[in-house]
Formats: sequence, structure tokens, C-alpha cells
Amino acid sequence: MTDLSTRVREGDTIRYNGGVFTIASIGYSDNPRKPLSELRITATPAMPEEITNPWVTTRIGDGPEILTAIQPVEAEELARLAAGKDVLEIGSAMGYSAIIMALSGGRVTGIDSHKGDNWLGDTLGIMRANMAWHGVDVEIIAEMDTDAMPRLYAEGRRFDLVFVDAGGGYDEVKFDVTWGLKLLRPGGSIAIHDYGHVGYTDKKKVCDEMFPDGPTKLVYSLFIKTP
Ligand SMILES: C[S@@+](CC[C@H](N)C(=O)[O-])C[C@H]1O[C@@H](n2cnc3c(N)ncnc32)[C@H](O)[C@@H]1O
Repeated sequence: MTDLSTRVREGDTIRYNGGVFTIASIGYSDNPRKPLSELRITATPAMPEEITNPWVTTRIGDGPEILTAIQPVEAEELARLAAGKDVLEIGSAMGYSAIIMALSGGRVTGIDSHKGDNWLGDTLGIMRANMAWHGVDVEIIAEMDTDAMPRLYAEGRRFDLVFVDAGGGYDEVKFDVTWGLKLLRPGGSIAIHDYGHVGYTDKKKVCDEMFPDGPTKLVYSLFIKTP
């Protein structure tokens, strides 16, 4: 039986027994006249069994097709989080998430090596073309995160939202989350993509180690923490 010593409401995300759950209902299962001691809290796993986030081509409105692994429900959450905020994105690829966030009123800075030497090809050219179609301005930093993030920090740049969606190795994720936290303004949030992805188990490992209390909110594989 779950001993919830904190106050919870329906819809809250909680961490229990190594899993992440959403409070589905708080109430009496049948007879409303039962004593308080029999109040039932039901919680459902916030994460489906297997997350793979396949790359698909999708469109924003009537725009051109963009290749991305961001899920629709994650895109909606990113738009909500970014609205009116200064946003730093680590890993832009062809610009899908950066454009989503810019269209919702976020002032987005996007770091990506844009090397053009992986299977994604010329991400820089495609991202620029996608931005032009949507008429949005994203500050593109075509560098490695290991160079760009410490430099932005030294320059005194700070952000309300840091969105981490780059390399999935343990050291890579730890670097992005560590520097992402440094680059956050007080009250800001960090969002890490691919939490629970079966192919990127280090993402979950780093999040679980760095945030033992769990996420502030989990939207599919988007692990959101407001420290
Ligand atoms: C999963 S994709 C980003 C997807 C994008 N957010 C979207 O909306 O579709 C990962 C991107 O991270 C970039 N990346 C990976 N490791 C990096 C690093 N160490 N520094 C900078 N960029 C990196 C890759 O070039 C790639 O474009």
C-alpha cells in the first residue's frame, strides 16, 4: 500500500517503488459513506511499457515535412513551456522542436553541431529552410555542446527553459543536464527528451541519479524538472 505523506492531487506525477505514476483518482471506490481510512488512491504508470520514439516526417500546420522523433503530445508541452520564455535547446536537427517553441512565442537559441556527417545529413540547411517557411527566428549555434554551453555560461547568458535532445550516452547526457541547470534562471525548467526510451537507457539513468525525487512532470518521454 502506498504511503503518501505528501499532498497529492489527481493528475500529479509521483515516484513510487522505482516507477513513475500519475494519480488517476482520489476517492472512495464504491460507498461514499466509508470512513476516511478507506480512501483509495489509484495511480497508473505514467510511462507506457516501451518507448521507441521513431523518427517520422511531420508538418507544422501547412509547412514542409520535417523529420523528427518528438511525439505530438511532447510538442504540445514544449510549446506550452516555451511561450514567452528564453529557451536554450541542445540538439535541433532539422528544427522541428525549435520552430514549435518559437511559434509559441519562445525566444529560442539552438545548439547543434550540424556537422552533416551523420544519417540526418545537412541539418543546418534544412533547419534554415524550415525556419524561413514558418517565418521564425532561432539563434543557431552550430557548435558542439561542450564548447557552446560553457561559453554561454561565461557570457552570462541564462534561460527560462533548457530543452535537452542531443547525444544519448551517459557522459553526454550528464554534461547537458549539468550545464543546462547552470544556465537556468531561478524558477526555470529543464526538459529532457527520451526518458525511458528503450534505446537510450542512459538518459533515464542520468535523470534518476540527478533527480532522485523524480520529475516535476512527465509527458510521455519528456522529463520536466523545475528545480
Ligand atoms: C535527436 S536530434 C534532435 C531532434 C530535434 N530536437 C527535433 O525536434 O527533431 C539530436 C541532434 O543533436 C545533435 N548532437 C548530438 N550530439 C551533439 C553534441 N555533442 N553537440 C551538439 N549537437 C549534438 C545532432 O547533430 C542531432 O542533430
